[in-house]
Amino acid sequence: MCGIIGICLAARWNGLGEALYRGLQRLEYRGYDSAGIAVVDEKKLVVLKGKGRLQQLEQKLGFTKVSGVVGVGHTRWATHGAPSDENAHPHLDCSGRFAIVHNGIIENYYELKEQLLEKGHVFRSETDTEVVVHLVEELYEIYKDVYTAFKEAVKKLKGAYALLLISVIEPDKIFFAKKDSPLVLGLGDGYNLVASDIPALLDHTRRVVVLRDYWVGYITPRKVYIEDLLTGSRIDYANYVRIVEWSIEEASKEGYEHYMLKEIHEQPRALSQTLAGLRSDKSLAEEVVRVLREAATIYVTGAGTSYHAAEFFALSARTLAGIPVFPFIASEYEAFATSAKEGDVLIAVSQSGETMDVLKAVRSFKKQGAKIVAISNVIDSAIPRESDLAIYTRAGPEIGVAATKTFTTQVLTLSWILMELLSSEGLSRDELKELKESLESSAKLVEESIRRGEKASCELANVLASAKSMYYLSRSIGVPVAKEGALKIKEVAYIHAEAYPAGESKHGPIALIEPGFPVVFVVPAIPRLEKLIAGNIEEMKSRGAFTIGVIPQESALASLFDYVIEVPRSHWIITPITHTPPLQLLAYYVAVKRGADPDKPRNLAKTVTVE
Ligand code: AGP
Repeated sequence: MCGIIGICLAARWNGLGEALYRGLQRLEYRGYDSAGIAVVDEKKLVVLKGKGRLQQLEQKLGFTKVSGVVGVGHTRWATHGAPSDENAHPHLDCSGRFAIVHNGIIENYYELKEQLLEKGHVFRSETDTEVVVHLVEELYEIYKDVYTAFKEAVKKLKGAYALLLISVIEPDKIFFAKKDSPLVLGLGDGYNLVASDIPALLDHTRRVVVLRDYWVGYITPRKVYIEDLLTGSRIDYANYVRIVEWSIEEASKEGYEHYMLKEIHEQPRALSQTLAGLRSDKSLAEEVVRVLREAATIYVTGAGTSYHAAEFFALSARTLAGIPVFPFIASEYEAFATSAKEGDVLIAVSQSGETMDVLKAVRSFKKQGAKIVAISNVIDSAIPRESDLAIYTRAGPEIGVAATKTFTTQVLTLSWILMELLSSEGLSRDELKELKESLESSAKLVEESIRRGEKASCELANVLASAKSMYYLSRSIGVPVAKEGALKIKEVAYIHAEAYPAGESKHGPIALIEPGFPVVFVVPAIPRLEKLIAGNIEEMKSRGAFTIGVIPQESALASLFDYVIEVPRSHWIITPITHTPPLQLLAYYVAVKRGADPDKPRNLAKTVTVE
């Protein structure tokens, strides 16, 4: 997830660079590993870009000193190609007449790049984006019209994109295209703008047009032209103009009160983007599967929420195909590293990619000769850098300290790898088909789960806000999800919560149960487990516990609970994706109810870089 902006003026302005820079500052929460601007000034393209935070780059390059009539800007969250000066946007074509910025993932960039290389195009970066500007250059030679060349280029793209293109050939226009990545027009008086979201526009206007998928077109200082790429029909944008009331602060949370709530609601998009990335990096996924297939022993580790994703992977591998995967909490690496050896593989899961406990585990396993596969959300961060292979989730930057969207994207990525691993062994064609379909529908399923969980968790928060202590219970592959629920309510609502396999209750924990003691059950869609859990619910109820069930639709257990949150029923491999959002929402609403700040919980940091 990157941030892009474009400003189109009627006359040369020495404040253009300044305005682009201010806009990028408003977009920096979307990505901040590199940035750049390109402007057309006196029929020349001026490009300033590099690796680093916006403020450092301003000191180094002086964005704010740039003048011009039209310009675009970009702040990056790397997906293809590590953060570097070359991979920073904007990207130019071979002739230097076109400049482009992009937010999204071009899934078929590899094939397109191959074709353009054969035609003699020279690429300066490793990005998927650069392919588009060379494609425009190629097509401009055919059509001799920038808009037609741009439109025909966009028609060849697969994946998600918000694109802005400027050229010295038509310096009064910014060409745009949108599919699956956000893009908004800002309508000014004698100038027009376009940006990834509303906060970047509010310094200049409150009149906006939120662009729809497959809309392509251009803006000039006084004109807006939009057409639908699929039908070719012209769009009368006047019907879509909205006036924005929000303050800028509100706007960067897109109207949500906290980043945590916004990021919970971003999970459908985060899962789609992550799936798109897994599909586009086929060769990488194949390489990871080959390494795992040849592994003598597979270990998986992480800290906090990332450990819960790791533990779910280990349990899934055993449950689906009896593959012995050994999960361990990163800070406890020593006991496991001693037995690690050449031929072993360690999967290290970390959203930030900087957690010291995980880094220590990686270094000690490497010393023993093991191979390291990193799963991270931050490209080129320390753990992926020190690993043999790295697969990235594409959740975009996570601002709230509590991990939410990065958890479900980690689970999707690990389950996808497992599916690929089992594609040639251990599963029937039907089982494989069902697994693939479930993983591919994860964005839709999480959307439904959030919709169902929102109202329920608001109501429940009134009941639980005064709780001192809670249990989160489940069985088998549901246990890591229960642990994730308990962690969320501990870290943002400060309620002591414990998660454990429900079968353990009678061996001690049940001693704490007294009337009204809240017990949350995570019930996966596995009939055998539903039967087992029924007994565990009864033993809690018979001692007066207040029982809450996060259960799949049409579960026979519904009537047993004091309170039920139904989530979509699907293959159990999806349990963390369907059952976790209501638990995230519950922790969020209880925190708000108790007057806590869910975004900045006390005593915690987003990234723990100390041992
Ligand atoms: C989870 O909400 C917490 N922020 C914390 O437990 C976190 O998961 C842990 O510190 C690991 O972080 P990482 O994924 O960046 O390595």
